[in-house]
Amino acid sequence: MGPISGEPKNVKFYNLSLADRLRLMAEQSGVAPDELAALAGQPGLNPDQADHMVENAIGTFALPVGIAQNFIINGRPVLVPMVIEEPSVIAGASYMARLAQPTGGFIAHSDPPEMIGQMQIIDLDDPPTARLKLLEQKNRLLAEAAQVDPVLAKLGGGPRDIQVRLIESSPIGPFLVLHLVDDVRDAMGANAVNTAVERLTPLVQQITGGRVLLRILTNLADRRLARVRVTIRLNNLANGDFSAEQVRDGVIAAWAFAAADPYRAATHNKGIMNGVDAVVIATGNDWRAVEAGAHAYAARSGRYTSLSTWGQDADGNLAGALEMPMAVGTVGGATQVHPAARAALKLMGVTSARQLAEIIVSVGLAQNLAALRALATEGIQRGHMGLHARQVAIAAGAVGEQIERVAAQMVAEKTVRSDRAEEILKEIKP
Ligand code: MEV
Repeated sequence: MGPISGEPKNVKFYNLSLADRLRLMAEQSGVAPDELAALAGQPGLNPDQADHMVENAIGTFALPVGIAQNFIINGRPVLVPMVIEEPSVIAGASYMARLAQPTGGFIAHSDPPEMIGQMQIIDLDDPPTARLKLLEQKNRLLAEAAQVDPVLAKLGGGPRDIQVRLIESSPIGPFLVLHLVDDVRDAMGANAVNTAVERLTPLVQQITGGRVLLRILTNLADRRLARVRVTIRLNNLANGDFSAEQVRDGVIAAWAFAAADPYRAATHNKGIMNGVDAVVIATGNDWRAVEAGAHAYAARSGRYTSLSTWGQDADGNLAGALEMPMAVGTVGGATQVHPAARAALKLMGVTSARQLAEIIVSVGLAQNLAALRALATEGIQRGHMGLHARQVAIAAGAVGEQIERVAAQMVAEKTVRSDRAEEILKEIKP
């Protein structure tokens, strides 16, 4: 995709009608409007498709989709679709992405797409010896696991390693945990890995003389990390009454709080996941898997902490980084079945799961900065107020132009409440 240039200088994306936004998005991305229309629900997932996805389907459930602007990731401009019900998130990410542009945007990198399948082996006479026997037979186990998916092998994926841990003491006594490391290429990988560990069961039982109980992937996908870093020039950091130095030092102090305190880290990481989940959902990926991986990784030292880091570089600029597991795919599951997910991948020009993971962590880091910058300066409520007021106005029964009028008056009065929205609505209704 070429540079993002379609937006006329005096027209802001957010000021356009929904239809014009879609048109501009198509122009900017070079993707035909009808290929992107599904992202805007025209038509999105239909009830028949939903019926094939889950049991007892009765229909579909819609959420807003917005486009994060200004992202440059590894030198490539990307329009990022975000699915989220919360106001301010898309605007926050877009604004931080703009602040990152003068230094070239986000620099992201990711590990090969290796997932881990776990096998729990119990009822062992001699667990330490059984462990050694499994390791002696590593090549045989890998060869057996490779039989599961010849297509994956052709694509350059497949089993990579076997590790075996002894859990010495547990309520059921000692047992073994075998890890199968499997390169799942562009899939999220749950099916490939779960099938592979199920296939290994008879061989593992034969080698150990024990009984295999659980066979399932781990969501702590710590062999599949994605990482990103960004630098914001000091002279781009000033915000309202706050100097650039105050904003920079405030963001770093806010991060120090999250790094030191799990209560704060949970909320700090939630801000990161506002960005991460919105793109994970837009692309039809399993956001619960990504959430589970994120929080388990944040607690890997034994103490839950921040997933990101913030500091200053030698020139006094603000420098941030984020590293976390990112088990997402561009093939398989809902990514190809859901028409909006297909359109989302098309819009971003994503060609691999790794590239998608790199975009997702970039949005997560931008989102984190948006929250910390607001929290360390004017507070989070001011930015939230306008959109929140619109939601309150709608809930109170405002329609069409009434929504903006009721919302604007509540913001001006600094009273965003449903009873006040109802009163204003009564006053303005003919
Ligand atoms: C709200 O959805 C997210 C924040 O709470 C994140 C944070 O506190 O860093 C604003």
